[in-house]
Amino acid sequence: MEIGSGSGEHGVFFQKRFPEIIWQTSDPDLLNRKSISSWIEYEELNKKMPQPLALDVEKIPWKISLNLENSLQGIVSINMIHVAQWTSTIALFRESGKLLKKGQFLILYGPFKIGNKHTSQSNYFFDNSIKLKNDLWGIRNLDDVSYEGEKNNFLQENIISMPVNNFLIIYRKVS
Ligand SMILES: C[S@@+](CC[C@H](N)C(=O)[O-])C[C@H]1O[C@@H](n2cnc3c(N)ncnc32)[C@H](O)[C@@H]1O
Repeated sequence: MEIGSGSGEHGVFFQKRFPEIIWQTSDPDLLNRKSISSWIEYEELNKKMPQPLALDVEKIPWKISLNLENSLQGIVSINMIHVAQWTSTIALFRESGKLLKKGQFLILYGPFKIGNKHTSQSNYFFDNSIKLKNDLWGIRNLDDVSYEGEKNNFLQENIISMPVNNFLIIYRKVS
């Protein structure tokens, strides 16, 4: 299940790349959900991929079907936590912690501060630019994010450097 799928371009890419799984997209924004549905149709994935869920991480408990809950293998969120308020990160870990079972994963992708410092000048400028749009947004400090993980039984298992100063962080549910 993907949280904050945006336009849906990533979702259809992953669905095509991994045909053995079902990629469940979601977004709180109706226009984004329409875009996701259009991508699903354009890529002729209607028979394989479910329609996006209207899911806002802060509206808890998350309303997802029992079928999805039982078949859930992991949760992915790409470029979401820095363009949402900090309480969204807290809610993401709390609800994911309730839904996921031991051994399952939560993956975050995006820019992070490491040791409370930006990893590049471009991230510093990007951080300032998103804060001008909303002062509750901002690139998160990885230790603070992982601490929210720990509180919900997620171990930070791996940090993978990605292009353009992004990271992919793998959290594993340990109990
Ligand atoms: C920068 S976009 C990233 C979209 C997409 N994942 C990508 O990488 O292209 C941030 C996304 O987070 C979603 N978002 C913001 N606040 C959210 C929340 N409270 N719960 C779930 N999604 C949220 C927005 O609707 C938007 O689609």
